[in-house]
Amino acid sequence: MQNCLNDFRMTLGGKSYAPLMLGGMGVNISNDNLVLAVEKLGGMAHLSDALLMDVSDRQFGTNYSAQKTRCYKSLIGNPDKSDMKFDLAHVEQATKRYIEDVMSRASGNGLVLLNCMEKLTMNDSLATLKTRLNAALDAGIGGITLSAGLHLSSFKLMADNKRFHDAMLGTIVSSSRALNLFLRKAAAVGRMPDYIVVEGPLAGGHLGFGPDWAEHKLENIVTDVKNFLAEKNLDIPVVAAGGIFTGGDAVRFVRDIGAAGVQVATRFTIAKECAIPDPVKQIYLNANPEDVEVNMFSPTGYPMRMLKSSPAITSEIRPACETYGYILNHGECSYVKEWYARQGDASLPHGKCCICSHMRNYKLWTCGTTVSRLKETTVRLPDGTWHLPSAEDIFNDYMFSTGDDVRVSKPE
Ligand SMILES: Cc1cc2nc3c(=O)[nH]c(=O)nc-3n(C[C@H](O)[C@H](O)[C@H](O)COP(=O)(O)O)c2cc1C
Repeated sequence: MQNCLNDFRMTLGGKSYAPLMLGGMGVNISNDNLVLAVEKLGGMAHLSDALLMDVSDRQFGTNYSAQKTRCYKSLIGNPDKSDMKFDLAHVEQATKRYIEDVMSRASGNGLVLLNCMEKLTMNDSLATLKTRLNAALDAGIGGITLSAGLHLSSFKLMADNKRFHDAMLGTIVSSSRALNLFLRKAAAVGRMPDYIVVEGPLAGGHLGFGPDWAEHKLENIVTDVKNFLAEKNLDIPVVAAGGIFTGGDAVRFVRDIGAAGVQVATRFTIAKECAIPDPVKQIYLNANPEDVEVNMFSPTGYPMRMLKSSPAITSEIRPACETYGYILNHGECSYVKEWYARQGDASLPHGKCCICSHMRNYKLWTCGTTVSRLKETTVRLPDGTWHLPSAEDIFNDYMFSTGDDVRVSKPE
């Protein structure tokens, strides 16, 4: 009987990996250090391409965001943002620089992937997405996982890239219905995904469900997707994501339900290497179940799980689209609309947040439903704060623990 996750391997592109995937966490939460730590241990780990121009400015001292702000200064105070465009050469340079840097430091033991959110429409979804995807391939990324959206044309946007057939390409879905639509489009360009991440309703970030999210169960969706693939005679590895907290949970998905691997994220938000500021990690660690909610504050239109105390929820800052503007779609963003309307009539409802600014500043505390269990994985220090585990501690707990055990991380 195989009892721990380390008894399994996941094969992708002819190479075998630990069946543990670190999910993409934007903006710059699953950062270079966290991803490289997991990759070194033989796992698969996602960078995120959210707000990469800003991430590049902070990491490499470039000034893409300042240049963009200067260019669109005249739109500050104007609710119509339709003329605001991203400089595609800058998007390409920022993506390449960031990914080339990470890839130059990868050990080769594991796989570095990029999580690409379609909902970052960047006011010109096809052109910006095409640039982001192809720049990532050109920079040598191990693979790309398409997320947050249906991505029906994304394979086509990469079809002329020389790495289109050798990089690993996957997608995240929350139902076999969405997968069916995706696969039809993939068939049209003669390229099936190399893996499929099935994300259930307990995940962090945006959820691919409607208001009935709580009625769905990851186990059932994974089984349904596997049956769907079998009917179509497709042998594509399925990775289960959302609410997988222990090595034992992971084993149940791989051994009993037939997933090829699991994707996890919430456990790694408190890792030493993770870019979330340490005081926010302490807030995650102190969270109780009643502190978490799924709400509609994200202007993407998708439900999102977050801590109720996230500053983003109550904040009403001026939209910074001239600097960021990643959610704009034909000049519109529901937060921008709300903000300008409330300048005229403060009695109008407040129900959206400025996701670009707040995710960038780590003020929107998104998390999976298991955030309230993080305290089971570590110890309190004499000063009352929690010890922060290393990515290796968390990785090894997933890989080697059996049953419902958790290896508690302790200071050395
Ligand atoms: C802080 C945080 C940020 C996330 N950001 C993204 C993201 O930018 N794109 C995405 O596709 N998924 C995102 N997710 C979802 C994760 O990649 C992952 O699939 C999911 O959270 C796994 O469930 P778990 O957190 O219960 O382990 C995020 C999750 C967390 C906790």
